[in-house]
Amino acid sequence: MAAPGRAVPAGPGALHRRDRWWVYPTNVALWLSLFGAYSFWTIVFFQRDSYHQYLSPFYSPLIAAGRIPVSPALLIFWIPLGFRATCYYYRKAYYRAFFQDPPACAIREPRLAARLSPTGRGRRYRGETRLPFVLANLHRLFLYLAIAFVVIFVIDTVTAFSYHGHIGIGLGTALILVNTVALGLYTFSCHSLRHLIGGGLDCFSCAFAGRPRFQLWRLTSWLNLRHSTWAWISLTTVILTDLYIHLLQYGVVHDPHLGF
Ligand code: FES
Repeated sequence: MAAPGRAVPAGPGALHRRDRWWVYPTNVALWLSLFGAYSFWTIVFFQRDSYHQYLSPFYSPLIAAGRIPVSPALLIFWIPLGFRATCYYYRKAYYRAFFQDPPACAIREPRLAARLSPTGRGRRYRGETRLPFVLANLHRLFLYLAIAFVVIFVIDTVTAFSYHGHIGIGLGTALILVNTVALGLYTFSCHSLRHLIGGGLDCFSCAFAGRPRFQLWRLTSWLNLRHSTWAWISLTTVILTDLYIHLLQYGVVHDPHLGF
């Protein structure tokens, strides 16, 4: 903020802060662009992304593999994409990083961003009431689908423990396990889920199943405080898991494992 007694700078793009506020939106823009480019590559250019018992999270659940002329990941990618794109945390992050609307607290929107952004200055404020931003209101529906995906990822994780008919643990098993845990933490820390569990209640002890609901609400509240952390960790583990399976497919690395 401007120091007391000093004139506040005026005009679009004027800086009201002296700290390195631009580090956060720059990192977000870089990471999301990298993730978007990687996802496009792995979803569009492969027919299958699995290695023995390992299935990439981008291709799970594997639907119609080999029966359609395009990548089966194209049939399902819109669900995790929709879940992340409508996430409350990511919305704040990409509004700041890409639309600069605003770039950070106490930083005025640049003139160009103010023109391009759906909520920018000089326009009538419409919030998220027009396409495509109105789709953000579908977040709760994407949450239900994302919970179903977590169940599917748990099944994939159990499958990843099988090795030639025996129980085995490879580096791929560990990566898939970590990725499933990270995706579970991201999904179950969702603001929308926390609201579903306890948001509409004034009194837990007066509500049906109030005690277990209160415990669940406390757990989701604890997870929710770290929602942005789970968001970035899970984004990274999805890429690492998929990349490792690609490297196995092409014989670049071998899977170290223990069989029992
Ligand atoms: S608010 Fe981020 S996943 Fe629901």
